[in-house]
Amino acid sequence: MTLELSYQSKLLSPYQSKLQGWPGLIEAYRSYLPVTEETPVVSLKEGNTPLIPVPAIADKIGRQVEVFVKYDGLNPTGSFKDRGMTLAISKAKEAGAKAVICASTGNTSAAAAAYALRGGMRAFVLIPDGYVALGKLAQALLYGAEVLAIKGNFDQALQIVKDVAKKYPVTLVNSVNPYRLEGQKTGAFELVDTLGDAPDWLCIPVGNAGNITAYWMGFCQYHKSKKCDRLPKMMGFQAAGAAPIVKGYPIAHPETVASAIRIGNPASWKKAIEAQKASQGSFTAVTDEEILEAYRLLASNEGIFCEPASAASVAGLLKIKDQVPRGAKIVCVLTGHGLKDPDVAIKHSHNDHFSQGIEPTTEAVAKIMGL
Ligand code: F0G
Repeated sequence: MTLELSYQSKLLSPYQSKLQGWPGLIEAYRSYLPVTEETPVVSLKEGNTPLIPVPAIADKIGRQVEVFVKYDGLNPTGSFKDRGMTLAISKAKEAGAKAVICASTGNTSAAAAAYALRGGMRAFVLIPDGYVALGKLAQALLYGAEVLAIKGNFDQALQIVKDVAKKYPVTLVNSVNPYRLEGQKTGAFELVDTLGDAPDWLCIPVGNAGNITAYWMGFCQYHKSKKCDRLPKMMGFQAAGAAPIVKGYPIAHPETVASAIRIGNPASWKKAIEAQKASQGSFTAVTDEEILEAYRLLASNEGIFCEPASAASVAGLLKIKDQVPRGAKIVCVLTGHGLKDPDVAIKHSHNDHFSQGIEPTTEAVAKIMGL
């Protein structure tokens, strides 16, 4: 260990060693989290994701606003779920759990599979058959989870796993497990630590409504601890075909291209409404076309590849851009990486510069290049 450290310090600049030294979010925010010295920390060094300015999106709004994206797709399993899963699995291990279970539209299952594996537990994941993006399914399978694809949607799967966890010795790691939200609130801590205060608006996609609840918890806790002077307005965005909170009633058959948020009866519905009301924010629905438009815009104008559900935050911001106050500082949370859903990327790229079946000669290539 000592050898390793001195070897590193000789090769790396102080800045590099600082980067190498990110300890994962439980260690970074230990005093704000429900852990003790006895908690066995199960970590993949999640958190510390970049906050990236997106000037092309700010330009579309004008009025000197500043827009950033919190690129949580850069977590170890490619989504914000790692923030909650490191804590949920650590606490499950502390309690002696041998197995965990979750329902998932994909990302929770990938994170549960990876962290359970590291914690030495079995992971059972229930997914809606045929509605999970390819990258997420690939992850759950490769991490070795026991994958149960049900002929039903996420809401039905969540009902089943809640019931199984009640009747059998298996720990539930959906966001109804309070440790999930405790871990996810660190996203808000990182925003304040980076910006020096809370933003004016936090734009966030809403599915099961855990993440918006967790961010609000994080901002409130930091505010109480005098780490920030203000609180942001919480602006939640749902896909139009899966917008129970916007409509005010559960949706029996939710549908959207953003499969991660294809949810009709969110578990944290009430808490999300509380966060919206307390922050004077709002909930707005965005159509699949608006989501895909923002998804392409982020990739082609900013070089940022997120998954469709994540783009709902930017689509929503652009939809209500006339409400943005002059000079406002806005953060959109990009919850998952674009590589999670390669099918949607290929189908909806609108890139007509894709030439296939070209003869393998310089002439043929140069001709297509227009040279
Ligand atoms: N964005 C992505 C990429 C997600 O995977 C999810 C939820 C959300 C946004 C919405 O977050 O549920 O806290 O409101 N995915 C869950 C899953 C449901 O199973 O992976 P939320």
